[in-house]
Formats: sequence, C-alpha cells, structure tokens
Amino acid sequence: MPNIAIISSSIRTGRNSHRVALFFQSYLTSHQLAEVDLIDLDAYNFPLFDERILKQPEPSAALLEYQSRVAKADGIIIVTPEYNGGYPASLKNAIDVLYKEWQRKPIAISTASDGIFGGSQVITSLQFSLWKIKAWTVPAMFPNPKVQEAYDESGVPKDKEAVEKRAAAFLDELLWCVEAAARMKPA
Ligand SMILES: Cc1cc2nc3c(=O)[nH]c(=O)nc-3n(C[C@H](O)[C@H](O)[C@H](O)COP(=O)(O)O)c2cc1C
Repeated sequence: MPNIAIISSSIRTGRNSHRVALFFQSYLTSHQLAEVDLIDLDAYNFPLFDERILKQPEPSAALLEYQSRVAKADGIIIVTPEYNGGYPASLKNAIDVLYKEWQRKPIAISTASDGIFGGSQVITSLQFSLWKIKAWTVPAMFPNPKVQEAYDESGVPKDKEAVEKRAAAFLDELLWCVEAAARMKPA
C-alpha cells in the first residue's frame, strides 16, 4: 500500500479546512487505499523561513522530522485554504524550507474556502510554486466550497455520497501518478 501524506496547511485559530484533511485521512484509511500520515502544520508551528534545511547548520528536531515525513511519502495531498486569492504563508514556509524532497513527488491539491468557489483561485499559484520546485502536480481538483458547512469538525461530509464520489475520482488520479512514479524506481 502506498504511503500518502496529507499536509493540512491552515494554522488559523478556528480553522475549517483541517476538516477536509480529516476527511481524506478517514476515506483513504477506511477504503484501504493507503497508509496515511497526516502532517499538521499547526502542530509544528515552524518559525518563519530563514534558510533551507540543507543550508541550516543545526536544523531543529521538528524540522528534521517534517523533512523525513515528506521524503518518505509516495504521494501527497495538500489541503489549503484561500487567503486573499493565494495560499497561506504557513504553506509557503513549509514548501521553501525543503528542496529535493519535493522532486518528482506526486502532489494533489485540495482547496477550501467559506465561499462558493471553494478556494479554486489558489490552484494556479500553488501549482506554479510546486512546478518550480520540480514536484509532480497531479491534474485533478478538489475544491471545497463553504467548508465550514460541508463537513463537521471531525471531517464527516454533510453530503457523504457526493463528496465521496468526487474524492474517488480525485484520489484515482493521485494514486495513478503514485503507481507510475513507483514503477520508475529501480528494483
Ligand atoms: C486572511 C484571509 C483571507 C481570505 N481570503 C479569501 C479569499 O480570497 N477568497 C475566499 O473565498 N475566502 C477567503 N477567506 C475566507 C476563507 O476561505 C475561510 O476563512 C476558510 O475557512 C479558510 O480556511 P481555514 O478556516 O482553514 O483557515 C479568507 C480568510 C482569511 C482569514
């Protein structure tokens, strides 16, 4: 089974997009699609970026742990809210601090907002940053409009059937890329 990391990127007090991360964790686990590692940036509370980990003389234990979790993931789902048309500083911080760990890593993006567009304006800027760092961005979308109403606090969707149908298609794209990447690895 592949190892899929879910990066929950909002560190806002009272955040709601974390519900989407909890949903994916539960869906992937209950459908036995992957081993799941939920990487919660709020729990890490990293300081603002001052240098890439590879140039830091003494990276913190938390940063080293985060690096190894990203490195060992076969694929990643990034759950991001939309803040003023972009993705949060917490996520940029967490992307820039690593480098080679992202390369050729299949990454699927799920966006969230409290409005009707589901954070879909974040996609282009985040996809561009991930492309620049040589990640393999998966061509699939999973916007979450009115995220505060669409899921309860533990990540259970209100319209379970519709959300799970969309999730199956989204995850199918990610898992296809994960399998393709695995086939390219030397035996
Ligand atoms: C600083 C800030 C900027 C926001 N900008 C947008 C925006 O551009 N578009 C939008 O649809 N929602 C915007 N929102 C509303 C968020 O989509 C909403 O608060 C959502 O719940 C954010 O995810 P979070 O709760 O996980 O932090 C903004 C919220 C904040 C705090």
